Amino acid sequence: MIPSIHSKLPAVGTTIFTVMSGLAAEHNAVNLGQGFPDYDMDSELVGLVNKAMKDGYNQYVPMQGYLPLREAIAEKVHALYGASIDAGSDITITPGGTYAIYTALTTVLRPGDEVIVFEPAYDSYIPNIEVNGATAIRLPLRYPDYSIDWQMVRNAITDRTRVIMINSPHNPTGAVLRASDLEELRKIVSNTNIFILSDEVYEHLVFDGIPHESVLRYPDLMERSFVCFSFGKVYHCTGWKLGYCISNASLMTEFRKVHQYNCFSVHSPSQVALAGFLSNRESYLGLGTYLQEKRDYFTTLMKQTRFDLLSSHGSYFICGTYNRISDEGDSAFAKRLTIEHKVATIPVSAFYKDATDNKVIRFCFAKKRETLESAVEKLARL
Ligand SMILES: Cc1ncc(COP(=O)(O)O)c(C=O)c1O
Repeated sequence: MIPSIHSKLPAVGTTIFTVMSGLAAEHNAVNLGQGFPDYDMDSELVGLVNKAMKDGYNQYVPMQGYLPLREAIAEKVHALYGASIDAGSDITITPGGTYAIYTALTTVLRPGDEVIVFEPAYDSYIPNIEVNGATAIRLPLRYPDYSIDWQMVRNAITDRTRVIMINSPHNPTGAVLRASDLEELRKIVSNTNIFILSDEVYEHLVFDGIPHESVLRYPDLMERSFVCFSFGKVYHCTGWKLGYCISNASLMTEFRKVHQYNCFSVHSPSQVALAGFLSNRESYLGLGTYLQEKRDYFTTLMKQTRFDLLSSHGSYFICGTYNRISDEGDSAFAKRLTIEHKVATIPVSAFYKDATDNKVIRFCFAKKRETLESAVEKLARL
């Protein structure tokens, strides 16, 4: 008899990113869909990985991650956010930010728990909650500025609420949390059993002089938080799938119990390379300006089209509406845009479990100027 599988994630199909990147390749479309840069990463960092391999760093590093890298991270977050983080007990290097998020959720969730998650949401969050037997309590961000309605959060809290997930800068919208948001969050969770999961993979991609409001700035929040980061986003190497999680010693002890029997340890030569490269502060401090220029260039180019862009203050992304072009649903429109007009984007309804359709699509502007020009030339014909 062939065993039959009772799916743990019956509602999940292939991610929209895979679908749209597949369509883009099939139809030879310019890919402004999936969030990855099409320009080269820093060759010095590539050289350092090669060197680490040649120098023999090809065996397992400790389960927690290569200590000099964790020390460099602790120094960095102290300089940036004033956070006092113990490199020994509070940081774990992970194979990417998504894995860090999954591991943090798995560390704390039990069947029946509730997790407050804002939509539109990065696509892994809700499946990560549900695979742990917990329930996602989905709250909509306010359209069109995608801000959080904190009163709605207060109303959604029950005695089963276990985690509140935040993400700033936000994928897919480019919204960023302000100090006042963090104040609201602090008030809401104080004296509760609620954990915070803060997805800060775009921490350096904040524009318009706005500071990144890291949870790491707030010692009271760090008593209950897992903060997740991605080197892929910082160093234009999303394919490396390398990131880390910062928490406090007691939560991190539990996080590591899950991590050590899942992945154990992460690619050694890249960690050795990054341990040295992280001291080059310019390599990340200049990123916001670099990406802001791309956002501004894309925004200016898009004036030639009949799309209306919403605001983006961070991340790789900017959203836009197409009411002046079509009244199709966003998925149908994005697919047609790829097939007929050769530009791939992501329909924002894909970031809602119930496919809420505000007729908004997401553009990734982390691309070479030529790529953005070629896409907009096509979009201007609509
Ligand atoms: C909001 C958000 N969180 C996490 C990640 C994951 O990062 P990584 O590629 O390091 O897993 C991404 C990547 O697209 C993202 O957009």
